[in-house]
Amino acid sequence: MPTVSESSNGRLIARMENVTLSFGERVVLKDCSLDIVEGAITCIIGLSGAGKSTILRLLDGLLLPNDGHVYVRGEDICHMTEEQRNVVRQKISLSFQFSALLDSLTVGENVALPLREHTRLSEAEIRRAVMDSLDSVGLTQAYDNLPAELSGGMLKRAGFARAIVTRPELVLYDEPTTGLDPIVTNLITDTILRLREKLRGTAVVISHDLPSIFAMADYVAMLFEGAIIAYDTADRIRNSHNPIVAQFLEGSEFGPIPI
Ligand SMILES: Nc1ncnc2c1ncn2[C@@H]1O[C@H](COP(=O)(O)OP(=O)(O)OP(=O)(O)O)[C@@H](O)[C@H]1O
Ligand SMILES: [Mg+2]
Repeated sequence: MPTVSESSNGRLIARMENVTLSFGERVVLKDCSLDIVEGAITCIIGLSGAGKSTILRLLDGLLLPNDGHVYVRGEDICHMTEEQRNVVRQKISLSFQFSALLDSLTVGENVALPLREHTRLSEAEIRRAVMDSLDSVGLTQAYDNLPAELSGGMLKRAGFARAIVTRPELVLYDEPTTGLDPIVTNLITDTILRLREKLRGTAVVISHDLPSIFAMADYVAMLFEGAIIAYDTADRIRNSHNPIVAQFLEGSEFGPIPI
């Protein structure tokens, strides 16, 4: 087990410590620890069903662990009141695996939702913030469109626009490029990098797309059998001699990962 914080330099915006989480009988995370370094892009890799989306839901305070701690800016969000947790959650944004826009609302209205829910901005201020957010993802022209009128890549970007409209300090992206062609994948990867610059924030990205991961990650964490079994800078993970990491990155059938 790597000691996570020894591999990372810099301040932590969030940290999972010895987290165990089960759904019924199924233990998804067991004694799982992960550091999220402020201002960095951390990518989480791992097999399908390993529990990657579950980690994002824990970091966002949508799920609580059965055991262990989840810290955001040093505060344990597991032992807060619902109200206190909601205050912390306003600084965090989760961009879902499936972009989850409401079909009956235009893109502009979808992106405006978090502002209507969490702020008291005027209509003019909301429109300005929404336009600014859509501009960040190159989608101002889609303001009046319904989600059904958008391509897969545009839907993803509209989801990002909604995720960043409140200027969160921590953005959690769940499989932002899954199912997209290589050109749109590049565009999305660039968008995540640009958004990090613009927000001066931190991002955690779950992805199966290795070129995209190594184009954007500062740190990579590998989740395997309920725990983070490797965590390091992207370069060191790429050249890792850990047999599990190496097999995963090679996509090989042969090695310690049971198929
Ligand atoms: N709300 C839930 N109730 C019961 N089981 C759940 C729930 N959410 C997730 N699981 C189970 O927990 C495990 C981990 O799920 P999770 O979605 O975190 O995996 P993942 O690594 O994101 O997978 P993928 O790469 O397929 O998206 C899976 O076996 C899943 O079926
Ligand atoms: Mg998932």
